[in-house]
Amino acid sequence: MALLEIENVSFTYPDGEGYRTILNQVNLEFNQGTFYTIVGASGSGKTTFLTLIAGMDQVHDGSIRYNGKALSEIGLWTYRRQHVGMVFQNFNLIPYMTGLENVMVAMGIAKTGNKATALKLLETLGIGATKAKRSVRRLSGGEQQRVAIARALANNPDIIIADEPSGNLDGATETAIIGLFQRLAHDQGKCVIVVTHSEKVASNADVILRLHPTDGTFEKDILQ
Ligand SMILES: Nc1ncnc2c1ncn2[C@@H]1O[C@H](COP(=O)(O)OP(=O)(O)OP(=O)(O)O)[C@@H](O)[C@H]1O
Ligand SMILES: [Mg+2]
Repeated sequence: MALLEIENVSFTYPDGEGYRTILNQVNLEFNQGTFYTIVGASGSGKTTFLTLIAGMDQVHDGSIRYNGKALSEIGLWTYRRQHVGMVFQNFNLIPYMTGLENVMVAMGIAKTGNKATALKLLETLGIGATKAKRSVRRLSGGEQQRVAIARALANNPDIIIADEPSGNLDGATETAIIGLFQRLAHDQGKCVIVVTHSEKVASNADVILRLHPTDGTFEKDILQ
């Protein structure tokens, strides 16, 4: 059984007088140990799809199951908290806190044991102790993004979902982040789902899902 099963999911937004279909009867499966990328034109509905599979929005039409159980049955809050790490397109970091505090809050609070783990996690993403202890407002866009990735990994979730995590990163850092996603999937057995506009990120995934700009359907490319 797949870790995540998306069954007949449709989604529309109100659009002027009528409705615009963003997702149209989508059927997909996501497995453990696999690195997926989702690509598609701006406005095609990639972020919308992520909010549904991350349990941040209710599915009204169709169903999403985690380990065979509908998200509505698990409870969106429980699902999100226990199983999903999310990197948002606009980071959503707590601006008055440091990177370290942002990661520690996600770990479910300031036990001293967490501090070393959080620092180590940030370090693996290229945020050393000095920067980790600086208010995230005073970090660059790329650095904030890496803090956001560390925060998503803080609880050791089995599903990692990221919305354009390499948008502000230079080539070398992007390569490092791709390597991290590959290791999370292949060495740690995580299900990694990443929306990207980067050809380089997409071509390094195991599976590319291309969201059609108007049909609301996905085309699947299996790379390995
Ligand atoms: N709450 C909303 N109400 C109505 N329409 C919305 C809402 N949120 C998004 N949309 C519209 O739905 C479409 C899909 O939006 P979405 O953010 O999912 O696209 P995207 O593929 O992530 O784009 P990008 O690559 O620019 O981030 C867009 O046309 C957007 O304007
Ligand atoms: Mg988006």
